[in-house]
Amino acid sequence: MCLGKRVVLHFVVVLLVIQFGRSSGQDITDQTSSLDMGSMRSMFHALRQWTFDFVGKTGLRTRGFFLQEKIPNELPFPCDVTLGRSERVPKSVHKLRPGDINVIAAMGDSLTAATGAAATSVRDLYMENRGLSWSIGGQWNWRNVTTLPNILKEFNPKLVGYSLGDSYPFHKESQFNMAEIGAVSYDMPFMAQSLVKRIRADPRVDFKRDWKLVTIAVGGNDICSFVCTMENPEDLPAKHRLRMTRALRYLRDNMPRTFVNLVSVPSVETVVSMKSKPSICNTLHHGECSCWVGKLYNQTDESRLRWHRIQDGMVQAEREVAQLDEFRRLDEFAVMYQPWSTEISLKMNGREVDHTLLAYDCFHMSQKGNAYAGTALWNNMLEPPGRKSTNWKPLFENFKCPTAKVPYIFTYDNS
Ligand SMILES: *[C@@H]1O[C@H](CO)[C@@H](O)[C@H](O)[C@H]1NC(C)=O
Ligand SMILES: *[C@@H]1O[C@H](CO)[C@@H](O)[C@H](O)[C@H]1NC(C)=O
Repeated sequence: MCLGKRVVLHFVVVLLVIQFGRSSGQDITDQTSSLDMGSMRSMFHALRQWTFDFVGKTGLRTRGFFLQEKIPNELPFPCDVTLGRSERVPKSVHKLRPGDINVIAAMGDSLTAATGAAATSVRDLYMENRGLSWSIGGQWNWRNVTTLPNILKEFNPKLVGYSLGDSYPFHKESQFNMAEIGAVSYDMPFMAQSLVKRIRADPRVDFKRDWKLVTIAVGGNDICSFVCTMENPEDLPAKHRLRMTRALRYLRDNMPRTFVNLVSVPSVETVVSMKSKPSICNTLHHGECSCWVGKLYNQTDESRLRWHRIQDGMVQAEREVAQLDEFRRLDEFAVMYQPWSTEISLKMNGREVDHTLLAYDCFHMSQKGNAYAGTALWNNMLEPPGRKSTNWKPLFENFKCPTAKVPYIFTYDNS
């Protein structure tokens, strides 16, 4: 099937969603609809499998603009890994060292799915290179895929849960990466339930005893594609706050020994308002970020400013949710807001945009971007609140390590 037809199909699906969404007077992203019925689901599943086979795997490519710089074998891993793991399994989340984590998981959208990270064409953008994902990809190793799991593996080679390679969420290779492309904030409480189910059922996991790390990153689709269809767009931060709180409560109450990274809504403006975009990117951005790009919703600088303010509200909500009293001073659960992307820049040398950080659509992250993001998240975990980096850096320019004096992952209560 040619791309045109697929786009039409996609469009029909979107129309259906809008149709069903409108009928009950709620916002599109506020509800389930008849599209969520079992029969629709199996049809959707089959369609997705067909797409997967049609596009084919791309994540094992060893050449391309999208790849990060490799760390030569002569260079040792930058941290003393013996400091990174406790002698005995800690009882408190506030005494958790990186190597104490046995299970890693993630929730979110296409950014967490690593959509198009190894893409070199529009067709490839339909592949999810989950093995390369910044927060949950564990393909190869830290030398050429510098992701959070590949870093953690150096401290604990027995880590499980990271995605093994290209896959959709219903494939085994995705492991505990629950991300769904197009997911919105509303989906997080449900995703938390599916996540717990998946981890609990895995024979490799000692559910009560193993420490688990979950990274949540969502909101890009809300602010890019749905905010402009809401009845009251200014309600989005409050809704986001409620949904995040619910998802976190579920994790707190249903999964012992869990540390959560709550990562900011991505700075969509940085990518969509980029000057001198290749024309293919401009076209794709109409679809990927239709509230900001194009004319369909009468977009103006003024409306973009409005979305920007709403996005700031969402970030503020995340900051506050992570510090809610109900998530503080617990032994087996902690949430930390991680702001590494809030002031993100694509100008690594301070002057020109480094296009190789972005995927073929200039919207998602390339493999290299995923490596920068993975390192940034790792650094955030070892930086105390109030002194966390808010921008990514070239690899290993500022790589943090646990030290004898400060060996623990920071929580609000051990800093
Ligand atoms: C990364 O390293 C692994 C193991 O050394 C190797 O098999 C793989 O081809 C490398 N990938 C890239 C993109 O260089
Ligand atoms: C855009 O503006 C036109 C003319 O003012 C109006 O009729 C239309 O409803 C607007 N569309 C949206 C999506 O706001």
